[in-house]
Amino acid sequence: MTERPVVWFPRKLSAATLERARRDYDVIVNEADTPGTADEIIAMSARVDAMVPCHSEHFTEAVVAALDPRLKIIANHSVGVDHCNLPALQQRGIVVTNTPDVLSDATAEIAMLLMLGAARRAVEGDSLVRQGEWSDWSPAFMVGKQVTGARLGIVGMGRVGRAFAVKARGFGMEIHYHNRSRLSPAEEQGATYHPSLDTLLPEVDFLSLHCPASPETTDLIGERTLGLMRDGAVLVNTARGALVDEDALIAALDSGKISAAGLDCFKVEPGGNPEFARFSNVMMLPHIGSATRATRDAMGFRALDNLDAFFSGNQPRDRLV
Ligand code: DGY
Repeated sequence: MTERPVVWFPRKLSAATLERARRDYDVIVNEADTPGTADEIIAMSARVDAMVPCHSEHFTEAVVAALDPRLKIIANHSVGVDHCNLPALQQRGIVVTNTPDVLSDATAEIAMLLMLGAARRAVEGDSLVRQGEWSDWSPAFMVGKQVTGARLGIVGMGRVGRAFAVKARGFGMEIHYHNRSRLSPAEEQGATYHPSLDTLLPEVDFLSLHCPASPETTDLIGERTLGLMRDGAVLVNTARGALVDEDALIAALDSGKISAAGLDCFKVEPGGNPEFARFSNVMMLPHIGSATRATRDAMGFRALDNLDAFFSGNQPRDRLV
């Protein structure tokens, strides 16, 4: 009997995912479900043929350099791979895959929740009622910003950006977008393309970020770009914390340039940025864009599909390097 590949799961993936994994592989699961440290990743690389990490495990250049040659594939349970130094992994000949498509709707739902929550003052309203401080009502009470008929700017019109556009169209929003390349008319669905971020920003009332984190997109939204936005615009970030200069956003919230924000991602995770806590016009979530039962199973299965292809000698569908 040929030996089965050994696979490490640094985090506890969904029960269905682990059940399928145990059927087909020799599996090691970190039952404590704590983020895999650099030392753990390096030590495990000598014991396993594959890893199925999340964005919480960091394959930095130094970690990659220390990986044991036994490790052949990193089948990420995430679409974002900014936690992986891809050039270093490629140089070591380690295959890397991700899980696109399957989390687009769940993430777009969270973007919608944050956009509506920020626009309609959900944090403030919830806390008034919850604290027993709701003592009055008037036509001027808790007036927010309407999304219907407003212009939405989407930065990054990949799978999640497009899924969000579909949902936003259902709310009667006019879609504008900036992307590295223009989409086909069928994909655009009437959205207005802006070849540069600078021309998009002054045109929209709401801005939602859906591009990957990379050296080029770090602090994409900062003092200069926030200055180009419409007065009172609303910012939504469900992509990566690295995209936003948080100090600049705090200054824009203080000045009222940005009237509200919805954030699922922060520079420091877990934890977030405690400075945002003083803003009741900022709705915050702890990086749960893809956290639905259906999506967790789909992400796990997609990662396993990639492993299966690799170990049967085929090209994994989502191979990045
Ligand atoms: C992703 O898949 O990139 C999500 O942010 C969860 O890790």
